[in-house]
Amino acid sequence: MRIVLGVTGGIAAYKAALLLRLMTEEGHEVHVVPTESALNFVGKATWEALSGQPVYTDTFEAVDEVNHVLQGRKADLVLIAPATANALAKAANGLAEDLIGNILLTATVPVVMAPAMHTEMWQNAATQANVVTLRSRGVHIIEPAVGRLTGIDTGKGRLPDPEDIWQQTKDIIHQAHHGSLLRDKHVVVSAGGTREALDPVRFLGNRSSGKQGVALAQAAARAGAQVTLITGSMEVAAPQHDHITVVPIESTRDLLGAVLEYSREKDALIMAAAVADFRPATATDQKIKKDDEHSAPTIILEQTEDVLHTVIQQRAAGQDLPGYVIGFAAETGDANTTPLEYGRAKLQRKGCEMLVVNEVGADKVFGQDENDVTIVFADGRDDLTVQGTKDVVAASIIQELADALN
Ligand code: CTP
Repeated sequence: MRIVLGVTGGIAAYKAALLLRLMTEEGHEVHVVPTESALNFVGKATWEALSGQPVYTDTFEAVDEVNHVLQGRKADLVLIAPATANALAKAANGLAEDLIGNILLTATVPVVMAPAMHTEMWQNAATQANVVTLRSRGVHIIEPAVGRLTGIDTGKGRLPDPEDIWQQTKDIIHQAHHGSLLRDKHVVVSAGGTREALDPVRFLGNRSSGKQGVALAQAAARAGAQVTLITGSMEVAAPQHDHITVVPIESTRDLLGAVLEYSREKDALIMAAAVADFRPATATDQKIKKDDEHSAPTIILEQTEDVLHTVIQQRAAGQDLPGYVIGFAAETGDANTTPLEYGRAKLQRKGCEMLVVNEVGADKVFGQDENDVTIVFADGRDDLTVQGTKDVVAASIIQELADALN
């Protein structure tokens, strides 16, 4: 990223030097724009040495490059830390007295300000009104920390630690970027396990918690998509979100019907549901009773419909079903074949665009919060390994989906 780091005139300016280091260490190109008064705290040479870039403070430097317009336009992010009470007031009023003021007026990218000042100044009605104004215009204001201020006094107004500012800033950028990844797209997600009735009170089920499917629905909604979430039995509650419509189902047959109905004319289908492969060939209307001979019934099973494969087949036959279909594969592997090899074979067999391969075992995956997956693609893209919470895995899958759809 190309970042403009605005530094205004407060004692916390020295912390901005550490912030700058964090950003350059992650490979970002940072252009420091201090105000005149900030240079009283940390000099130009420090900023130039740490950023490896020329440093300007005034609008009338590098005029040939129209620097005041250029910097704001070329940047991916404008971050002001520390932002003094005066800097907030100037920004809220749109003053263009120095280079940073000009940049703020030309920037169309996320702007983040990290205020630092004495508690009284922060609490002052004028400052609070400026904060409200700036926030209403989409500027992200990081809350000051509580703690030791310049002198012996303590209170709210301290610049948060550089690591903290940088983390919050990255979250803001992530949100700004991902909030539009799947805008105008409609994604269907299936989650949870199916239940196959044996009689009116018993069923064959599985251990799926529904967590991964729910995380996917939430990640897609956060990315701006409309989501239809088809839920089987789940340990977690279905999410409540403006963009998510929940369709509960029970059996594989229900799931097939719902998927075919709700996926029509949609952009993507993510089959995270754990679908039963077999069901009792005959389900009775009456409860199966014990007899006096201590015998037990024999349950004959039959194969269920393969929902994913049916979608792919019907799509190939010309039905208007999602052009991008993502499957999941829970694999244990065996003596001759690794889980990933089974996954690749399954991707081919099922004919979907992407398959998320989970290695499962006695203690792995079902119901747990952490996940460790390898994503394989039909279009020849390199495999992608993702480790982390189910939210992290979901975010990666949604990112890949967005790349493919856009
Ligand atoms: N799936 C499906 N319908 C089924 C079974 C599975 O749509 N009857 C979907 C799952 O939602 C998942 C993918 O297919 O996205 C792979 O599921 P998995 O159980 O790993 O594969 P199976 O098709 O059951 O293959 P195998 O039994 O050989 O592992």
